[in-house]
Amino acid sequence: MTERPICDYEGSRYSSEFWTQARTYEDAVERIALQALLPPRGRTLMEIGAGFGRLTELYAGYDTVVLMDYAHTQLAQAVERLGTAGTAEGRPRYIFVQANFYHLPFVAGSFDTVTMIRTLHHATDAPAVLHEVSEVLAPGGAFVLEFANKLNLKAIARRLLGRQSWSPFDRRPVEFVDLNFNFHPKWIWEQLDNVRLHRNAVRTVSHYRIGKLKRFLPHRLLVTMDGLAQPTGALWQLSPSVFVRACADDGKPAAPPAAFFRCPACGAPLGSPPQISFTCSCGRTWQKHGEIYDFRYPVE
Ligand SMILES: C[S@@+](CC[C@H](N)C(=O)[O-])C[C@H]1O[C@@H](n2cnc3c(N)ncnc32)[C@H](O)[C@@H]1O
Ligand SMILES: [Zn+2]
Repeated sequence: MTERPICDYEGSRYSSEFWTQARTYEDAVERIALQALLPPRGRTLMEIGAGFGRLTELYAGYDTVVLMDYAHTQLAQAVERLGTAGTAEGRPRYIFVQANFYHLPFVAGSFDTVTMIRTLHHATDAPAVLHEVSEVLAPGGAFVLEFANKLNLKAIARRLLGRQSWSPFDRRPVEFVDLNFNFHPKWIWEQLDNVRLHRNAVRTVSHYRIGKLKRFLPHRLLVTMDGLAQPTGALWQLSPSVFVRACADDGKPAAPPAAFFRCPACGAPLGSPPQISFTCSCGRTWQKHGEIYDFRYPVE
């Protein structure tokens, strides 16, 4: 497997230290955008880089929800928040999977919907991640992606005032802090096109992410104003966060009925939950530990 650098959240206090009172505005406006773009119902949905499951309640219309993340401790928090109840038919409602977004452990064509919120900005190789997403989507499946936009008004103003070394107009991703990238919308559109993900809706989000506005204007007013501004994303994108929905080809093959997981090392199909241990023809064994399927480290 090609190893690329990872922004490791293992042991981080992301839920309590990032999502504080100071970010209730961002949380609320992201929910509006996600709800507007997400197909409301389906069989299978996966969030890539789901963290502690902040947005999982928005996936209530799906039979099976896969929460996938690199960090075990983030998923452990998600297990604690969401519980392990199954569906009436005895299938697990939530499937927690520890894996790397460069090597998704699912057979091609598995998901009706894939979401990725506040996660692509940790990828040094975003095209490789988008290629994986395109593979695992079912025919006509939807991908809802949030990305950090380098072409935002604050970055443009800083550049014009000579306070920023990089240009927001340059289409290449900028790594503004180690393993944190901002992307140009046109570059993202190109990468989606390259993997045959067809963009069909865009929302700009967090237009009023300015400390003073958040402190002095009522929360509800700011959130409502952002919700009203979000559809302008179809015309131009100058906000710090952008949500886009893109769909996979209708004609691509669906996953074979019993297959779900695949070996992240060699790609061979491996079976599906509730099975808890999978020995691959390549010799590796992957196992569920507690509630979490571990596709990062094979059993020694
Ligand atoms: C900023 S958090 C976002 C969590 C969640 N989507 C949300 O919006 O609250 C980014 C998440 O991406 C995960 N992540 C980073 N690199 C990853 C990788 N290579 N594969 C899978 N997940 C990764 C981190 O562990 C972290 O939980
Ligand atoms: Zn294998």
